[in-house]
Amino acid sequence: MKLIKYKNTIHSDENASNELNFSLNIKLRFCVEQDLEKLEWFGMFYEHREIFRDQFQRHLKNENLMLIAEFNEFPVGQVWIDVKTFSEESTALIWALRVHPIMQNLGLGTFLIKKAESIINAAGYNYSQIEVEKNNVRAKLLYERLGYNVIKEVNETSSYSSPDGQIKQQTFYLYRMKKKIYGANLNHKRQSSKVRREFI
Ligand SMILES: CC(C)(COP(=O)(O)OP(=O)(O)OC[C@H]1O[C@@H](n2cnc3c(N)ncnc32)[C@H](O)[C@@H]1OP(=O)(O)O)[C@@H](O)C(=O)NCCC(=O)NCCS
Repeated sequence: MKLIKYKNTIHSDENASNELNFSLNIKLRFCVEQDLEKLEWFGMFYEHREIFRDQFQRHLKNENLMLIAEFNEFPVGQVWIDVKTFSEESTALIWALRVHPIMQNLGLGTFLIKKAESIINAAGYNYSQIEVEKNNVRAKLLYERLGYNVIKEVNETSSYSSPDGQIKQQTFYLYRMKKKIYGANLNHKRQSSKVRREFI
């Protein structure tokens, strides 16, 4: 059945095909407080509410830039850029990259990484770093395709409180991967706040 959109009303055409094709308009922007609940993706990341809130405070201080890919007023993808933890090594950490399952394999993950890298470059860092769980073979392949090399194996333990007050502890077995961000301006001072204003 073909669905024909006319003046915001969808009509069906019984004789035509059973497909509706349309293009998607994805907008990239920085996270605002109103996004936090939607970033839980209808419960998928409800447990991580505290992490979202803590990292949003770091976002406001320009320590961890939270980027969102928005479709139809919903954050279908995200990536965070920690510009503080490894700043002594002129390195920014790309983390918490995720694309909603129904939007995966369309190029959105690649788009988010490339945008994060251009922000890291503009902010004057020399390297971009990503950590990936050892069993996440496909994500590691994606990062290798984008020019990242394993520099170290690390085990990290972190904890958070779930919304019902339980302390959850997780240990991650990771590859730390790194990439030189070409074109980085060695002379200009790192300024994540300036980049943020310019990007918006
Ligand atoms: C990893 C992830 C962000 C990639 O996003 P994406 O929009 O599907 O990526 P793209 O369309 O740009 O590229 C697709 C490639 O991503 C990689 N990939 C990793 N996990 C994948 C998944 N679950 N589904 C599809 N592709 C995945 C593959 O290398 C794939 O290429 P391939 O088809 O040749 O194997 C996304 O799959 C995701 O959110 N996964 C769950 C969370 C996660 O693992 N995050 C990474 C933490 S380090």
